[in-house]
Amino acid sequence: MNINSSILAKLFKTNITEVNKYCKTKIKKQLKFNYLNEKENNDLIIKVLSKIFEDKQIIASRGRKNKWFQGWNETLNIYRKDKNVNSLFPKFYTARENRYFRLGGKFIKVKNSNFEIKMLDIYRNWYFKKYFSKVDNIYEFGAGTGHNLVELSKIYPKKKLFGSDFVLSSIKILKLISKRKRINLQSFRFDMMNPNKKIKLLNNSAIYTSGAIEQLSGKIDKFIKYVISQKPKIIVHVEPCADFYDNKNLADYLGKIFQSKRKYTSNLLFKLKKLEKKNVIKIIKTCKSPFGSLMMEGYNLIVWKINK
Ligand SMILES: C[S@@+](CC[C@H](N)C(=O)[O-])C[C@H]1O[C@@H](n2cnc3c(N)ncnc32)[C@H](O)[C@@H]1O
Repeated sequence: MNINSSILAKLFKTNITEVNKYCKTKIKKQLKFNYLNEKENNDLIIKVLSKIFEDKQIIASRGRKNKWFQGWNETLNIYRKDKNVNSLFPKFYTARENRYFRLGGKFIKVKNSNFEIKMLDIYRNWYFKKYFSKVDNIYEFGAGTGHNLVELSKIYPKKKLFGSDFVLSSIKILKLISKRKRINLQSFRFDMMNPNKKIKLLNNSAIYTSGAIEQLSGKIDKFIKYVISQKPKIIVHVEPCADFYDNKNLADYLGKIFQSKRKYTSNLLFKLKKLEKKNVIKIIKTCKSPFGSLMMEGYNLIVWKINK
C-alpha cells in the first residue's frame, strides 16, 4: 500500500483538500507500507516486549543533559565538515535499525527505513502551514539540531525564527545554520524546567515544541506558566502523551508501557484540560499520533491558545 492524501486526511483528522493544499509536494514520492500477517505481528510483539524489559533509559535523569550535549556536539562536528542539512536529522530518526513502525495504531513494515522522517516531514508541513501562517515570529523550545526551524524557514522566509535548547552544542548548531543558510534565525539557551522569565517573546508569536516537553518527565508546570505569561497567539505541541493511546489496542498499550517506563512526560493534555476548565486557555485541536516508531507514538498534536 501507499501513503496517500486520503489515508493522511483520516490520520490528521482533516479533509483531503487540506492535505493536498499543504502537503502535496511532499507526498509526490511513493512511500510504501504493509500491514503484518498474524505471525509477523506476534513475533514483533515479542520483540517489543523484550525491548521494554531490557530498556534502561530514564528521561531527565542525572547525566541526561550531558548525553544531549555530547549527542548534539557530534552532530555539530559532522555538520561543520559536511555542510549538509540532512546531517541535522537526529540519529533517533535515522538510526532505527528495523523497518517496523506504527501507522494509525497498527504495526506496519516499510521499504524505506527513513519512513518516520518522511512522514514527519509531511505531517509538519501540514500543521506548520495550518497554524503558523498568521504570526510574525515562531519560537521552538528544545530545538535540538534545528531541522524543524530549517523547514520553517523554507515555508516562511520572512518570519522571525527563534530556537532554544538547554545545551550549548545545540545553540552552536543553530547559530551555524543561521550563518550558513542566511536565514532569519536567532538562538538562546533556555531550560524549560527552570524558565528564565527575563526572556520575553515578541508580540504576535507562536510557540512550538516537538519531542521537548517529553524530556521534562512530567515537571511541566513552570514551563506552562511561563508560556501563558508570554501571551503567544498560538501554541503547537507534537509530543508523546499517555491519554491518546487506546488501552484496548495491544500495539498502543505496549507503547504506553514503554513510554511510562522511560518516564517521558505524559500529563500535558491532562494539565491543559484543567486550564481549559478554568477558562484560562482553549484547546483548538488534538490529534492522536498518526504514525510512530516501533516502540511508541511520539507525535500527538495538541494546539491551544490563551483566552483573552
Ligand atoms: C527528542 S529531542 C527533540 C529535538 C527537536 N525538537 C526535534 O524535533 O528533533 C529533545 C530536545 O530537548 C532538549 N531538552 C531536554 N531537556 C530540556 C530542558 N530542560 N530545557 C530545554 N531543552 C531541553 C534536548 O537537548 C533535545 O534537544
